[in-house]
Amino acid sequence: MTTTITPLIAGNWKMNGSRASLEELQQLAGLLTTGEAPKAMVVICPPATILHAVASQGSTSGILAGGQDCHASASGAYTGDISAGMLADAGAQFVIVGHSERRAAHGETDQIVRAKAEAAIGAGLKPIICVGETGAERDSGKAEAVVAALLAGSVPDAAELHEVIVAYEPVWAIGTGRTPTNDEIAQMHNRIRAILVERFGDKGASTRILYGGSMKPQNAREILNIENVNGGLVGGASLLARDFYTIISAV
Ligand code: PGA
Repeated sequence: MTTTITPLIAGNWKMNGSRASLEELQQLAGLLTTGEAPKAMVVICPPATILHAVASQGSTSGILAGGQDCHASASGAYTGDISAGMLADAGAQFVIVGHSERRAAHGETDQIVRAKAEAAIGAGLKPIICVGETGAERDSGKAEAVVAALLAGSVPDAAELHEVIVAYEPVWAIGTGRTPTNDEIAQMHNRIRAILVERFGDKGASTRILYGGSMKPQNAREILNIENVNGGLVGGASLLARDFYTIISAV
């Protein structure tokens, strides 16, 4: 069975962006609404301080909004944290969970990431669950085993009934300008697809698998053409409207 999956291009602004960035968003909206209609769903995950503004401003041009992280609990004494429900209230439809920067800098384990993904689903959000190997793990031939373990630990059983998105982001490719070869991307995405199908059946066959890590206007077209690459999670190149638009247009 072949399933048609509408690709999704998500911009992860990380800790970049202020109200002034809404001008960049406006520019992107202009590009998206003047040219040919984009063939991908477009999501921007800005810092939480401007999430509501991005969601409101983006809605007129079909740009959807997402959070970059959420807490696993719905509310409580968690100073500085934001719940999935709060993100939804601010206009988010997606939330990134388990990004390698959070796994590394905030000690997030698979168990925590899975709980966050469950909380996101509970709040009506679509979690973008990130997995990826380090450079050392790839060099020692363990990339597929590491990614399989991250998927097993981080993707909740609820993915059988609810929409989740998986982002394969090799840690060594993030923000470095280096990317795996097309064959390496194809091999990993095929493996992820097989794991999702085995665990979730038809739902796993239609789950989006995004590629992330130094996706740029120059390499987007060839990466997005690889089988089982259903879009991208874009960091640096999502900050400039023109670059991000070029990536979206590569679909
Ligand atoms: P990058 O980041 O595109 O800047 O490599 C991707 C990500 O971290 O999601």
